[in-house]
Amino acid sequence: MPAPTLFAISDLHIAYQENREIVESLRPEDDGDWLIVAGDVGEMFADVVWALRLLAGRFAKVVWSPGNHELWTPREDPVTERGEARYRRLVEACRELGVATPEDEYPVWDGADGPAVVAPLFLLYDYSFRMPGHTTKEQALAYAYETGVVCTDEILLYPDPYPSREQWCWARVEQTRKRLDAIPAGLPTVLINHWPMVREPTRILRFPEFAQWCGTELTADWHVRFRAAASVYGHLHIPRTTYYDGVRFEEVSVGYPREWRRRGTPPGRLRRILG
Ligand SMILES: [Fe+2]
Ligand SMILES: [Fe+2]
Repeated sequence: MPAPTLFAISDLHIAYQENREIVESLRPEDDGDWLIVAGDVGEMFADVVWALRLLAGRFAKVVWSPGNHELWTPREDPVTERGEARYRRLVEACRELGVATPEDEYPVWDGADGPAVVAPLFLLYDYSFRMPGHTTKEQALAYAYETGVVCTDEILLYPDPYPSREQWCWARVEQTRKRLDAIPAGLPTVLINHWPMVREPTRILRFPEFAQWCGTELTADWHVRFRAAASVYGHLHIPRTTYYDGVRFEEVSVGYPREWRRRGTPPGRLRRILG
């Protein structure tokens, strides 16, 4: 008898038809399987809802945490909300589908390797993953503009009503820390955040100046502090498993067709997190 598994995937980027087909092929192995979707489903609001609806209909539970692409406001999207308002609309849509979000009570995985609190987080980034020699955001950003490695978030990810993306990040970190502090001390966690919660995974980026859009130093010890059995992330499009302080970090991205075609493994394989 197969037993339920907690699986994860991210960076589905379904604006690409090939990636949409990958999503259509995702199926549980057991009726009780859960699926973590760690952000970057797509950019268009209706696309994100399409994918989450399909997956929610197949898996016993879907747990979603937003990526930067869901938070963009593309000019051609009929859904025109920006920043926090757009995020709230995504949360509402998830609730209608029965998909767990960072705004809901964290579900508890009771299957094999459990119990563990499955905590989708939305923490964003604050430009603190800077290159050596860059002491301020202004410096780091100026260098990125010089080299031409600038994240599209600068144009399409509005922080409204916050004055900046980093201020939105700091507010999220504050609220989230309180919620994680309230989890009973005996319970391990699975921390899910689109952006890696420690800096180390960004050290192998081809363009190191991109790291400033990849996380915040403020969460550097959270995997220890909040007893993570695993820390799940994406965003880098460098799928792999690494360990920091003995904690397993899983980068679970599918990535763009031009990226997954280069890999030797078939795209869209679900990563086993627990169970
Ligand atoms: Fe992505
Ligand atoms: Fe991303």
